[in-house]
Amino acid sequence: YVVGFQPIFGEKLPYDDEQTGLKDRIVIKFSHVVAENTPKGLAAARFAALVKQKSRDRVEIQVFPNGMLYSENREVAALRRGDIQMIAPSFSNMNAIDPAWYVMDLPFAFRDQQDVNEALRGILGKRLFETLEPYGMKGGAYWSNGFRQMTNDVRPLRTPDDFRGLKFRVQPSEVLERQFNLLGASTISTPFNEVYRNLEAGAVDGQENTISNILSKRLYQFQRYMTISNHGYLGYVVIFNEEFWNGLPPDVQLIIEQALRETTAWNNQAALKQEKGLRLLRERARLDIITLTDEDKAQWKDKLSPIYKEFADTIGPGLLEEIDRP
Ligand code: LMR
Repeated sequence: YVVGFQPIFGEKLPYDDEQTGLKDRIVIKFSHVVAENTPKGLAAARFAALVKQKSRDRVEIQVFPNGMLYSENREVAALRRGDIQMIAPSFSNMNAIDPAWYVMDLPFAFRDQQDVNEALRGILGKRLFETLEPYGMKGGAYWSNGFRQMTNDVRPLRTPDDFRGLKFRVQPSEVLERQFNLLGASTISTPFNEVYRNLEAGAVDGQENTISNILSKRLYQFQRYMTISNHGYLGYVVIFNEEFWNGLPPDVQLIIEQALRETTAWNNQAALKQEKGLRLLRERARLDIITLTDEDKAQWKDKLSPIYKEFADTIGPGLLEEIDRP
């Protein structure tokens, strides 16, 4: 850096570095809440490296993982204020902006990642991006983490009846609350980086999450049982502060778009590779792992099916047609 010019985050700096020939260096702060060794954490780092390379060091993406800057309940506001320029919150955090996002929380709405990709590439993905616009946010991509599994410390969860009387931590979503209520369980909603302590303190009996989140945040530590249920989908929307985005030079926008496309393609593959995580969980965690059969799943779907009707009006017209309802 040229002496006297400290990069101000998110601002284009009119500076000229004689040694590197850098002009108008751009710094983008990218905040997220998960660990670095997860599909989102790795994608963020990869994206930063690609942008650095493609822009020949002109654009620096500074990644802040693990909620070190903001927990998920504060990152949207921070983005809108312009304190950070980029976030990738999970879908369940977006219903506070627009209830259309509830569609992504519905249980058994997608069979597999392929199914999700198709929906997000089509009308659904477009409509969800549009919900961001009135809030000065620009959707850039959808990233994946994979499907949610159930963990708890009380008993193996195989049938809907097994949930009765248990308490689960959920993300901030009425759909997720209702999902557990229909199973006879209660919920509390807490930020992701408090879940470990919630479990340790016994404030909840269990939680639902992806294998990479369970592993990287050691959520298995105070849990005896895990059910491979793949009942819900956990994905992310990559968002920019729109005003900031519009102020970027067109060549920089192009570089960022290219890097984001390449990262997204990579992320979708990375999120599919859960076997290694599951193997590590089997080795490290004292977890009794239960896998649902198709008959078990049919019972869960049956029990949870009222949720589709209950939330149809809230979600709004034209979106439930885009998913695979049970
Ligand atoms: C959570 O449980 O809150 C997480 O799934 C959040 C995340 O970003 O993956």
